[in-house]
Amino acid sequence: MFSKNTQKGKDEKLSFNTLDDHNIPSHVAIIMDGNGRWAQKRHLPRIAGHREGMNTVKKITISASKLGVKILTLYAFSTENWKRPSAEVSFLMHLPTDFFDTFVPDLIKHNVRVNVMGYIDQLPDYTQKAVKNAIADTEKCTGMVLNFALNYGGRAEIVTAVQKIAAQVDQNKISPEEITDKTIDSMLMTAELKPYSDPDLLIRTSGEERISNFLLWQIAYSELVFTDQLWPDFSDATLRDCIYEYQQRNRRFGGLK
Ligand code: FPP
Repeated sequence: MFSKNTQKGKDEKLSFNTLDDHNIPSHVAIIMDGNGRWAQKRHLPRIAGHREGMNTVKKITISASKLGVKILTLYAFSTENWKRPSAEVSFLMHLPTDFFDTFVPDLIKHNVRVNVMGYIDQLPDYTQKAVKNAIADTEKCTGMVLNFALNYGGRAEIVTAVQKIAAQVDQNKISPEEITDKTIDSMLMTAELKPYSDPDLLIRTSGEERISNFLLWQIAYSELVFTDQLWPDFSDATLRDCIYEYQQRNRRFGGLK
């Protein structure tokens, strides 16, 4: 990556890359990792990292929307994150309330529509209320979709899809031979994002290089970009650098181009 550290309080970066406006990834998905380490470096409790991470979400949503990204999918809480200490889980469950209370007017101003995918009915009532209100308040926005993965897990999603297809086979609505990748696509939580269901670019922050049960089916041909920056330090410049790296790749989807 071609960026330089600045001397600001946060480890922010400047970008010197010029982007090709005609090759902006339509669907960008981000694994927002490193909130805890960001806080630890400053001798702060982990939840301070999540709060700063929420501020980064605000900033990056606007940046992505301005760049012309059509779908921004953010991994906010996985089906495995319930294993964390209950105080941290509780803080994370309250974040959507804070976030949408303060940010919905900006989302509307930037024509951004909120979508949430995951097992929403298992979330506390106040979290469900916050996300449902945000979805309703932004439903008329026609610009970028800010798609939160909340209580989401790739394997659970595939299991649910298989169960739905099996039920259809059981009811003789479809035969096993008729099942194609399109059938599976249509049963996944990303189906409503068509024609951009699959991310073009998947970014993971914090230096970890794994997928952690995120969009397992959908990333078959996504370009993966890993950056060392911790999520609270992720900036407009980092986003531009990641997109620049994406633009240097030669996407072949298994063919020869
Ligand atoms: C991973 O970092 C981050 C999470 C599990 C939570 C991500 C949530 C946010 C960024 C805020 C989301 C905002 C809204 C509006 C819902 P980590 O805690 O695993 O970091 P570590 O690996 O350094 O411990």
